Amino acid sequence: MRRIAVLTSGGDAPGMNAALRAAVRSAVARGWEVWGIRRGYAGLLEGAFVPLGPRDVGGILHLGGTILGSARCPEFQSEAGLSQALDVLSRQGVEGLVVIGGNGSQQGAHKLFQAGVPVVGVASTIDNDLYGSEPTIGVDTALNVALEAIDRLKVTASAHSRAFLVEVMGRDCGYLALMAALAGGAEAVVLPEVATDPEALAAELHAAYERGKPHAIVVVAEGAEYNAQRLAAYFQQHEKRLGFGLRVTILGHVQRGGAPGAFDRILATRLGAAAVDALAQGQHGVLAGWQMGRVTFTPLAEVVRHRKTLDPELVNLARVLAR
Ligand code: ADP
Ligand code: F6P
Repeated sequence: MRRIAVLTSGGDAPGMNAALRAAVRSAVARGWEVWGIRRGYAGLLEGAFVPLGPRDVGGILHLGGTILGSARCPEFQSEAGLSQALDVLSRQGVEGLVVIGGNGSQQGAHKLFQAGVPVVGVASTIDNDLYGSEPTIGVDTALNVALEAIDRLKVTASAHSRAFLVEVMGRDCGYLALMAALAGGAEAVVLPEVATDPEALAAELHAAYERGKPHAIVVVAEGAEYNAQRLAAYFQQHEKRLGFGLRVTILGHVQRGGAPGAFDRILATRLGAAAVDALAQGQHGVLAGWQMGRVTFTPLAEVVRHRKTLDPELVNLARVLAR
């Protein structure tokens, strides 16, 4: 192997830059040439390559986002898009590709691998919905951002004895919400994985006041059937009967833009370097992830076939500890 390319794709995640830096420097240490591809699969289709040396990835370890840029690129998902990508990679003489990204990005990586490209994925998404990596790069930082907001909301909620809905990201996965509820000490959590009855939620919040709680914080996953907007509308519609309203904070992209914390920097550094090791050892079509306290390589075929599930014991624990 002499020439590889690296891209970052899908929702950016804090730590993507650290993974890129580690991949570039590990590859250069092996005497390889590295090309960065701008804007994920969109840049791949355009042939947007930039040469990357050790100095080009200096000063980025602590930065959120991705210096290569990222994109959602529906065109790449078509047959024509895939074949264009294959043409571009072959014209550029790319012998190995590192795809730093989440669920969708790794599905794309799997398609490239099936078409003959030596690919290694790096598990990177704040949603932590990727099979093959227990935490993915970025989720720890995103969680800390959400916690800072929840801690602050609790202060003002307590001052007024109010109930707040805090909506967190995660797409259709409730991991961020569940962990934010556990670590933030929420009174309730609303998840895509668990059916929610707004009446039962209202009863839970009433019960929390009756137990003497000065505040009620409900962490809501954006992918839940009753997201923050729908819950707030329901509570507004029935405010007289339910006896209180809910104030809503939607954290949105704020969670994604943070500077990576120590955990994500180290995880990203290890996975970025591991991806290059895998390419060097001819271990292709795998996802570099972190499981049971070590780097693991899971076939992309398995990654795309499985769905990560929430631990029901943790869902129950969040309920028990809300007492
Ligand atoms: P993430 O990687 O963060 O989950 P997306 O789901 O938006 O983000 O995926 C990023 C990109 O990966 C998409 O814009 C598309 O180009 C590509 N992609 C997603 N799903 C597939 C798929 N099933 N097949 C091929 N490419 C895909
Ligand atoms: O996949 C990461 C993520 O931040 C999800 O949590 C969220 O649903 C989505 O991306 C938002 O996407 P966009 O930035 O394209 O609005």
